[in-house]
Amino acid sequence: MVDAFELINTPHILFGPGRIKELFSQAGKYGSNLLLIHGSGSFLQSEKGQEITALLNDSDFQVSKAGVSHEPSPAMVDEIIQKNVSANIDVVVALGGGSVLDTGKAVSAMLRLNEPVREYLEGVGVKKPAGEKLPFIAIPTTSGTGSEATNNAVISEVGKNGFKKSLRHYNYVPDIALVDPELVLSCSKRVTAASGMDAFTQLLEGYVSEKSSVMTDAWAREGLKSISRSLERAVNRGDDLNARNDMSFAALASGIVLANAGLGLVHGFASSIGGVIEMPHGQVCGSLMAVVHERTIRALQASDPKSRALEKYVQAGMLFSGEKGRDKTDDYYLEQIIRKMYDMTESFGMKRFSHYGLTENRAAEIAGKTDNKNNPVSFSEEERKNILLSRL
Ligand SMILES: [Fe+2]
Repeated sequence: MVDAFELINTPHILFGPGRIKELFSQAGKYGSNLLLIHGSGSFLQSEKGQEITALLNDSDFQVSKAGVSHEPSPAMVDEIIQKNVSANIDVVVALGGGSVLDTGKAVSAMLRLNEPVREYLEGVGVKKPAGEKLPFIAIPTTSGTGSEATNNAVISEVGKNGFKKSLRHYNYVPDIALVDPELVLSCSKRVTAASGMDAFTQLLEGYVSEKSSVMTDAWAREGLKSISRSLERAVNRGDDLNARNDMSFAALASGIVLANAGLGLVHGFASSIGGVIEMPHGQVCGSLMAVVHERTIRALQASDPKSRALEKYVQAGMLFSGEKGRDKTDDYYLEQIIRKMYDMTESFGMKRFSHYGLTENRAAEIAGKTDNKNNPVSFSEEERKNILLSRL
C-alpha cells in the first residue's frame, strides 16, 4: 500500500546539454523587460557566460542586471528591489550558483510587494508571504543547492543576532528551471566538490527523512545513483560532460526531494552555523555529512535495527558499493556508505570549522540552537555538541 503523501509544485523543467538557447523563447512568454541576477564569479567570464551575455545584449529584451557576490542577506535583496522597483520588470532570470538563484527567487517574490524581505523570513519576521510574485527562471551554473526546484530562498545575516532563514511559499518554486549541464563545465574543482557534497547531503537526508514519501524516494534514489556514478568524476574531471550531466540531475533531484521531504541534522547545523560564521554552505554540509550520518546509522543499529530509515541507508550503501545483488550483510553495506562519505570528505578537502574561525565556546552555543529537523534520530544538545566538536 502506498502511504499518504503530499507533493508541491515542481518547476517546468528543461533539462539537457545545450538547452540554454531556449532561454529567450521561454523568457519571452512573460514579456520583454528582464532582470538578470548573476554572480560575480568566474561563470560570466567563461566562454559560455560570454556567449549568453552577448546573446542577451543582441536580443530584443530590455535587460537590467544585478550582481551577487556572496550568500544573500536581507540588505542585498532590499537593495536590488529598490534599484528595480520602478522598472516594470516582466521576468526575473537568475543565472549562477545557489546564492544567485536564492537571491533571484527572493527578488521575484519581493519586487511587487516592495517591502523589506526580513519581515517575511521564517523565525525572523512576523508577516506571512501571500505567494504573489513575478515570473522567475532559474538557471544553475553549479550543481548543488537544488534551488532551481525548491520553494524557499535562504537568506542570512552574520553577527551578534545573526540568522540563516528561509523566505518560503509553495508559489516561490521557480516557474522554469533551465538546467543545462554545459553551463557547469567551467565550475572549479573546489566549488564542484562543495556543491556536490551539498546535493549528496540533501538527497541522503531527504531519503531517510521522516517526511519522505514514495515520490521523494524515487527522486532521491535516482539522484543518489547519479552521485554514486559521477560526483568523484565531476570533481576530478571537470570537463566530463556525462559526469556534469549526472551532477546537474542530482542537484535538481535534491531540490525536489528537500522541498517535499525536508532535511536532517546536517542542514539543522547549516542553519545555525550560517548566522555565526561565513562558511560556504557546501563546505558546512561536506564537513558534517559523514559524521552526522555515521552517528545516525549507529544509533539506529542500536535502537531500531528494523527501521525504514536504516533499510534506506542499506540501499544507499548497495548503490555506493558498486556491487550487483545483495549477497552481503546489511552491516556490510552500512559500512560501505559510511566509508564512502568519509573518503569524499577527505579527498575533496572539506574544511574543518576552525578554518572559518569557529571556537569551542561558539560551537557549544550553536549546538544549543540547532534543530534536528527530520533526522530519523533526534540527538540531544550534548550529542550535537560532540558532533560539531569532532569537526572543529
Ligand atoms: Fe543544502
